[in-house]
Amino acid sequence: MCGIVAYTGQDQAAPFLLKGLATLEYRGYDSAGVEVMGADGALHGVKCAGKVKVLVDRCRTANLVGTCGIAHTRWATHGAPTETNAHPHRDCSGRIAVVHNGIVENFRELRAELEARGHAFESETDTEVIAHLVEEAWADAAGDLVAALRVATGHLQGSWAVACICADAPGQVAVARNGSPLVVASAGGAAYAASDITPLASVTSNVITLENGQFALLGPDGTVAVSDEAGAPVDEPSRVTIDWDASAATLGGFADFMAKEIAEQPEAIERLLAQHVGDGGVALDKLRLTNDELAAVDKVYLIACGTSYHVSLIARTMIQTWAKVPVVCDYASEFIYEQDVLVTDNTLCVIISQSGETADTLAAARRIRKMGAKVLAVTNVLGSTAERESDGVLYVQAGPEVCVASTKAYTAQMVACALFALRLAQANGALGLDEVRAHCADLALIPDKIREVLAREEQDRLAANAFREASSSLYLGRGVNSTTAYEGALKIKEISYLHAEAYPAGEMKHGPIALLEKGFPVVVVVPSDSVRDKTVSNIQECLARGASIIAVATDGDEKVAQLAKHVLWIPEMPDEMLVPIVAVVHLQILARYVALARGCDVDKPRNLAKSVTVE
Ligand code: F6R
Repeated sequence: MCGIVAYTGQDQAAPFLLKGLATLEYRGYDSAGVEVMGADGALHGVKCAGKVKVLVDRCRTANLVGTCGIAHTRWATHGAPTETNAHPHRDCSGRIAVVHNGIVENFRELRAELEARGHAFESETDTEVIAHLVEEAWADAAGDLVAALRVATGHLQGSWAVACICADAPGQVAVARNGSPLVVASAGGAAYAASDITPLASVTSNVITLENGQFALLGPDGTVAVSDEAGAPVDEPSRVTIDWDASAATLGGFADFMAKEIAEQPEAIERLLAQHVGDGGVALDKLRLTNDELAAVDKVYLIACGTSYHVSLIARTMIQTWAKVPVVCDYASEFIYEQDVLVTDNTLCVIISQSGETADTLAAARRIRKMGAKVLAVTNVLGSTAERESDGVLYVQAGPEVCVASTKAYTAQMVACALFALRLAQANGALGLDEVRAHCADLALIPDKIREVLAREEQDRLAANAFREASSSLYLGRGVNSTTAYEGALKIKEISYLHAEAYPAGEMKHGPIALLEKGFPVVVVVPSDSVRDKTVSNIQECLARGASIIAVATDGDEKVAQLAKHVLWIPEMPDEMLVPIVAVVHLQILARYVALARGCDVDKPRNLAKSVTVE
């Protein structure tokens, strides 16, 4: 969702701002803009609907000379994705400009009040009220831009990360955070702000993550002064150290980030296992729960959205099978408003969020925490809100995921949840140390099993042909692999815009079977597991209606090979519960090939955002 970049220093601001916007593209957006404070004492801006590269082209002929500025990618919430609605937004004088991520819930009331006081609005956005509120506050702020922003945000309800410049406060950028992510940094005599650490990774490895209610003033000499809601200085703001190289967020020879991130899965899982598995079984030091607290857990809530929700479904099986603790999985957006939430004295809530910034997931976590449960965050982003607002964290360490559709974070999250399930089983005695070690040994085989699947990507490329004429498709699987089907269908929908319906294979005959006709593509996840024969029967039912079968099957399954038009082969797995972590890789690659054949931008699918920071 919306991305913010700000710079002030001695160098020209526009090059860093535009480069920063490009690195934030993965968050998802539909328009962009930049505003620079010129040496002539005025603000100069360029905005456009569409991609950052359009903005970059327009900037070539614009007068963007100046060493202080703000920039933004907008994911439309209030008003269409037009040039007028793109940020930055200015006040009436044109001397104040703001960019904003989040939603101003009371903007209608504020706008009516501001209009009644004579302010003229240009856009349909909620954000523009902030510019006009700063304009009013600036008049009494005695030249203190943060003070003006503090007064302005004091009128807002909702969520925001805001960056603001004022032509009458040369070289200064004031920023505020409440509910939407914002990081700031000082490096090499310049000061920076951004929605996340990606644009800053090329200039520093040390960033400050602002807390809700905090403000910062960035100065042209590189100073960053953090203050709280009351204006008191915050001497020791939260800091994170970026643990990956800026090159991790570049293509490095791959055609697209999706291809790169799919290929990175074995190493991501190896890193995770190396960190947490040892002679003593599984060690998760940042859980911040004692052995006794873990042993006492009698109910687990797994709360997440989208792909991360699919992780929770697999995690439920792992926790219930290994640790023998009952688990409830819930979509965060549903959990927030459910009336029937039952929290025991020893309920543990695990939120799963690769970005750590998903608004629904954070709201659900806050709710269950208020009800007395401890919250543990499984996340890929160090210093994210999910981490900071939780009692403990399990950092999945998959490295930056730039493609909007999650791949490596998905499989790494599943492995992280497996480690958590084993740690719980170790603590409550459901498994002995030898059993835990044996499961860890099985997990250690996964990276090489994925490498085998990656080496077979030609199978996926050929299978993509089965979708050439299709306008819809069906994904089936049983047991843990019904989830593989859900995830495969989500991937293909997200990046190729081809409709895909996912069902537990046995449920097909209760409705979706009506979809089938000659050539209709049906992807069936049918590994050689305890339910394989039942799934083979479902394949027969599909064939009887003329469907074209693409099967994900275990090496050597001749029967499935005879029935399917295409087989995506997976190697034998030691434990059927771990099959989803390997089988899904074929469905990621398949989705990518289908999307490429349909001419889609696999990294930046339409309408989607990487980090969904609004409810
Ligand atoms: C799909 C995808 C989304 C996210 C969902 C939650 O590929 O990535 O479905 O999983 O928006 O995001 P996080 O995991 O960041 O909370």
